[in-house]
Amino acid sequence: MGEKKLGFATRAIHDGQEPEQVTGAVNVPIFLTSTYQQEEIGKHKGHEYARLTNPTRDALEESLCSLEGGTSAHVFASGMAAITAMLTMMKTGDHVVCSDNVYGGTQRVFDKVLANYGLTFTYVDTSVAENVAAAIRPETKLVHVETPTNPMMSITDIRAVADICHAKGVELSVDNTFLSPYFQQPIALGADIVMHSTTKFLNGHSDGLGGVLVCTKPEQAERFRFVQKCTGGILSPFESYLLLRGVKTLAVRMKQHDANGRAVAEFLAGHKAVKKVFYPGLADHPQHELATRQQSGFGSMLSLELGSLERANAFAKRLRLGYLAESLGGVETLICHPATMTHAAIGAEGRARLGITDGLMRISVGIEDVEDIIADLDQALAGR
Ligand SMILES: Cc1ncc(COP(=O)(O)O)c(C=O)c1O
Repeated sequence: MGEKKLGFATRAIHDGQEPEQVTGAVNVPIFLTSTYQQEEIGKHKGHEYARLTNPTRDALEESLCSLEGGTSAHVFASGMAAITAMLTMMKTGDHVVCSDNVYGGTQRVFDKVLANYGLTFTYVDTSVAENVAAAIRPETKLVHVETPTNPMMSITDIRAVADICHAKGVELSVDNTFLSPYFQQPIALGADIVMHSTTKFLNGHSDGLGGVLVCTKPEQAERFRFVQKCTGGILSPFESYLLLRGVKTLAVRMKQHDANGRAVAEFLAGHKAVKKVFYPGLADHPQHELATRQQSGFGSMLSLELGSLERANAFAKRLRLGYLAESLGGVETLICHPATMTHAAIGAEGRARLGITDGLMRISVGIEDVEDIIADLDQALAGR
C-alpha cells in the first residue's frame, strides 16, 4: 500500500490482521489449540506448542508493536505478569529506580516479591528529572516510570529521563497504560521498553485482563520470548482476540475519552463541593505545559479531592451511572477510591507521602454522553 507509513487508526485495524488464508475471514480467528500437528520429526508450520506461539496472540503482538513503534511486542496474562516478566532481566544485586507514585501493585511486587530475590528498589519523584540522575547507582539497570501517575496525575518528562538513563547506560521502561499509544509514544521519546496493563484502554471494554511489553532491541525480544516460554504467563487466545477487537476502535474511543475527560475536569474544577481536581489538561496542573508538549491528548483519567472519607463515600453511594469499581479505561465511567483500592497495599504512611488522602476519588471518564456523566456526578455531589 505504498511507501508512506499508514495512520494510527488504519494500523490499529489492519496491522497483524490480514484476512485468514484458508477462508478469507476478515477477523483473526481464535486459535483454540494447545499443540500443532508436525509433518515429520523436526518439520512444522512455525508453531509447536501454544505456550510458545499462537496465531491469535502473534497477530495481537504485531498490532501492539506497530502502534507503539517498537521492534517486537510480548503479551502476558495481566499487566502485573508483564511487569514481573520485565524484571526477569535483572540479576541478584541489580538496582531499579521507580516513580514513587506508580500503581500500588507495581510497588507491591517489587518490594514484597522481587526484593526477596536480592533486587533493590529506590522510589523517587520522577517528575523532577534530576531526582532520577541522583538515584542512579553503578548497579542500577532499569528506571521504571509511570506517566501520568496513578492517581495523582503527575507527569514525567520522558525525553529528559531517557537522556539521563542513556548517559549512564541504564534502560528506561515506561508504563503507558493511562494514555495508550494513541496519546503518548514513549519509544519516540527515547524509552527502551513500553509496558501496559492492556486490561485498561487498549482492551477498552472491561472484559479481559492482559499486559504487554514492547521492545526496541533484539536482546529484549529474545529475553521476553524466552520468559513467555519458560514461565508461561502468556495471554490466552480468547483474551488475545478480545484485545485485538478492542484495539481496532482505540483511536475513536480515545478521542471521545479525551473530549469527555476535558469536559468533566472543567465541570468538577468549577464545583463548590470539589476541593481540587488533578487533571493534566487543566491550565492549573503544575505540568500542564509538559503534558501539552509530550502527549497528543490529555485522556480521561482524573482525580478529585472531596475532603474526607465520609464525603467520598457519600459521593460514591449516590452514583447512578458511574460505577464504583477498581480498574479504568473501559467505555463505562469507573470511579475508584485509591486509598482503599489501588493504593491500599502501600499503607497509610506511603499514601500520605504521595498526597493520596482518604477523600481522594479517581475517575476514569467513559464514553457515555458527556451530559449524562456530568449530570450523574452533579447529583452525586449534591449536598457535599
Ligand atoms: C498503571 C497500571 N499499571 C499496571 C497495572 C497492573 O495491571 P493488571 O491489573 O492488568 O495486572 C495497573 C492496574 O490497575 C495500572 O493501573
